[in-house]
Amino acid sequence: MYGVASFEKKMTPLEVASGVQDFEAALHDLALHPPGKSDTLVAFSAAALHDLHDESFPQFKQLVEDFVRGRTDMVAPYKVQLFWRAFQYLLLERTADKEYPAAYNNSLTWQIAFRTILIDPPDRLNPEGWSLMEMLDVNNNQTNEPRRYAGVKLAIAAHANALPDAPSLVDAGCSAGLGQIQIGENIPFHGIHIEAEQNIRKLLRARLIGTMAISNNIGFDKIVGIDPKWVEACSYYPSELEDTQLNHSKHKFRQFLYQRREDFVRLHGDLTEGPGSLDDILVRNQGQQYDVAAALTSLYEIPKDQICIAAKALESLTDKLVVVQDFADIDPTDSTKLIFAEDIYGPASKYRLFSKLISDGEEAWTHLGTWSSGRCARFRPTAALIDKCLNQ
Ligand SMILES: C[S@@+](CC[C@H](N)C(=O)[O-])C[C@H]1O[C@@H](n2cnc3c(N)ncnc32)[C@H](O)[C@@H]1O
Repeated sequence: MYGVASFEKKMTPLEVASGVQDFEAALHDLALHPPGKSDTLVAFSAAALHDLHDESFPQFKQLVEDFVRGRTDMVAPYKVQLFWRAFQYLLLERTADKEYPAAYNNSLTWQIAFRTILIDPPDRLNPEGWSLMEMLDVNNNQTNEPRRYAGVKLAIAAHANALPDAPSLVDAGCSAGLGQIQIGENIPFHGIHIEAEQNIRKLLRARLIGTMAISNNIGFDKIVGIDPKWVEACSYYPSELEDTQLNHSKHKFRQFLYQRREDFVRLHGDLTEGPGSLDDILVRNQGQQYDVAAALTSLYEIPKDQICIAAKALESLTDKLVVVQDFADIDPTDSTKLIFAEDIYGPASKYRLFSKLISDGEEAWTHLGTWSSGRCARFRPTAALIDKCLNQ
């Protein structure tokens, strides 16, 4: 029933059972290290694990089995991310539950919500149930954190000598494009703590708040069209929905960026379909490769057997600089490859910035810096980034 992917691959009952097991393991991991330390997600995990084994509520297990069967394009931890975000969307946008997230820090509230959505009324699916199934069928985790694009600005600044004064930029997996809008509109990246000596902090901060001309600012995503409400539901952990001053200003800034969207071009493209499939993206740059091709927090989602083709597709878009920022590290046995984290919220996973200057014949990745998390509050530059910036 679920997913375009289900037309491509039929799973055996054994494969489905193993997929559900992986899903359960990922639910356990969610409780061990919940994004944003959200108690709400710990409670969500407990409720989902309980209901997967509740024989009086078979609809829940059915939902998970159908989800696993339909979404072969996603590994289990990202299925779980999509799963809680779909419920978050319903509670925020469809049922507009004023008690969310405050009252959802216990599993009972979640269990009641699961039943209300899936079996109330018992004989047919209600609009929220249909909406949930549709989201699990076709949506993607679509966070969009503008501050992450500070990394792109630093990588461009570090390679300024090898780039034209106003480089063209393409971003693969751009989501709503908020970070690119911030770069394109020269809205400074303030408030990032740089973990370095004072002179280096000054140098990098000047790059983050200084202006930078971009001649052609294009983003593409495998998701056609964009529902800002879905992006918003993905972009906040439940703990970030609490009404603090900090969260209020984050919300206001995001709304401001959405209003600036007219000049941002967002196209459709899927990295896993390989270089040949991205001709439309090049057409938007007069048929030329871009000066900079970036992918932020998008490659980690791609299943391992497709990552090689996706990386080739990304590199085919530029003849100069490739920038990747992701939950990844350089493969210790082959520095031309990145290894992506299995579980981005796991203690070992770090959000890092990498570059590869193709125009200089570089084949190996250079590590430019490490962020405190995917929310990008603190950045530790590497010696390589500092050297490059000092030598521009
Ligand atoms: C977690 S979001 C990150 C968005 C943004 N780059 C950021 O860092 O804030 C991942 C995005 O990558 C997109 N994506 C995932 N796989 C993709 C693929 N194969 N080709 C193009 N986009 C993809 C998703 O649709 C989603 O919008």
